[in-house]
Amino acid sequence: MTAERIDGKAFAALLRERVGALATQFEHKAGRKAGLAVVLVGEDPASQVYVRSKHKATVAAGMESFEHRLPADTSEADLLALVEQLNADEAVDGILVQLPLPGHLDDQAVIAAISPDKDVDGFHVTNAGRLAVGQSGFVPCTPLGCMMLLTDRLGDLSGLEAVVIGRSNIVGKPMAQLLLDANATVTIAHSRTKDLPGVVKRADIVVAAVGRAEMVKAEWLKDGATVIDVGINRLPPAEGEEKGRLVGDVDYAGAEGVASAITPVPGGVGPMTIAVLLRNTLVAAYRNAGLAVPEIL
Ligand code: GUN
Repeated sequence: MTAERIDGKAFAALLRERVGALATQFEHKAGRKAGLAVVLVGEDPASQVYVRSKHKATVAAGMESFEHRLPADTSEADLLALVEQLNADEAVDGILVQLPLPGHLDDQAVIAAISPDKDVDGFHVTNAGRLAVGQSGFVPCTPLGCMMLLTDRLGDLSGLEAVVIGRSNIVGKPMAQLLLDANATVTIAHSRTKDLPGVVKRADIVVAAVGRAEMVKAEWLKDGATVIDVGINRLPPAEGEEKGRLVGDVDYAGAEGVASAITPVPGGVGPMTIAVLLRNTLVAAYRNAGLAVPEIL
């Protein structure tokens, strides 16, 4: 059996189209565009690439993009003042402060300053709490994107065994909450888990979010499992290569022979993150404008 490849890139393109169409409707109803403010402190090359692609995607979806690039030595007071200004700005529906911040800045203090109703990353404790108790708020983009791929493929997840490998605040924990809300039986595994292969073997659904190249092996998987690979790891360059290949946390070539469906890296979960960010921003815009959020969002 060869697993079906879950095409996150195609799914993300459809979601972006839908968000774009609804963004136009929003503009007609609200008399303004939905707006996303992205704050980048310093010159981390990977962050610069992310911020540029977020800007392009926001504009392509018919939304306003406000970019704020601050020098690496920006003080916490200045950064907090900018966040306050964006909180108060009615043209700004969503605020995203690109992480990681330079070492002298406290990520948590900055996230805490963002209005929870503009926190389209879903990182604020208020939104983490809302997710934990089942209130509507904002859910972090990557796990929400994984959930969309899972329900698109499997439909009802009730009673399925799900194993999430990784317990980060950004992916593992919210992923587990979402699976639990969907009535899956959820296990969160991590670096101290005993017999990880044995735990993974039970899973109908495996979500790997550990950041270790090809750690999850084909032999660990249950026959017919659905595998969502959140990892993006660069291997050391092989001979003749300038850059190493990008691989996930799952040994794709092996897993393909055991799983029923699996996300590739790249082209699986990655493209979903920005698409969901645009979706969250448009949801924020409808809510902030006092308009009903369209059901299909
Ligand atoms: N850095 C890497 N991914 C993300 C993300 O989704 N949101 C923010 N704010 N920073 C990131």
